[in-house]
Amino acid sequence: MPMNIAMDGPVGAGKSSIADAVAQRLSILHLDTGAMYRAFGLYALRMGADMDNEAEMETLITKAQVSVRYEKNGQRTMLFDEDVTDLIRTGEVSAAASAVSRYGAVRRHMVRLQQALAQTTDMLIDGRDAGTVILPDSPCKIFLTASAEERARRRWLQNTAKGDMTPYEQVLRELNARDEQDMNRKTDPLRMAPDAILVDSTHMSVEEVVDHIVSLVEGVYGKR
Ligand code: DC
Repeated sequence: MPMNIAMDGPVGAGKSSIADAVAQRLSILHLDTGAMYRAFGLYALRMGADMDNEAEMETLITKAQVSVRYEKNGQRTMLFDEDVTDLIRTGEVSAAASAVSRYGAVRRHMVRLQQALAQTTDMLIDGRDAGTVILPDSPCKIFLTASAEERARRRWLQNTAKGDMTPYEQVLRELNARDEQDMNRKTDPLRMAPDAILVDSTHMSVEEVVDHIVSLVEGVYGKR
């Protein structure tokens, strides 16, 4: 049985960079599931599809070919034969990914792909449904969080470094709204799996979080 680690948590908890670092320390692959929804969002945009039309999305997902492959510097996300890794980080694609990920048929399709990948290799899967839906039987589930204020503070620091001067209070308000939406949406709302281990990074550095998660994984799977 491959080593399968599930990692979820709310927006701004530092999930993807922590997941990358943990996977690297353990020499296993990191599957960024959000990138797969983004690739399908890009496809829907290119096809000029109506993302509010569920029936249209159900048909479109059967035509799209989203896959991932791995290079030395990590995951590459593919749409048919095209490497779209660098094209899926725009605001337009974020909005499309958020729209298409609402639909059950799209989610089931993606989850099937993700589960098939996890069966073939040791992998850390990050995504808001990793512990609850993709890997419900994983013996190692991490729910990474931090206080809303701390997550907003980190996001605000990142923003200001990029020249985005949105005030902290607004960043916090938007983050609270996004949390609310994520926890209350109809399909696969963000929630902690009952057997997940809560890691609260509010008062921890990135290195401390990575060390802590690696030791939790080793507690389950033994030292690698
Ligand atoms: O994590 P991200 O921002 O790259 O995710 C892109 C979108 O896909 C975002 O709206 C959340 C959604 N998503 C999801 O519904 N389920 C996942 N497992 C991963 C992402």
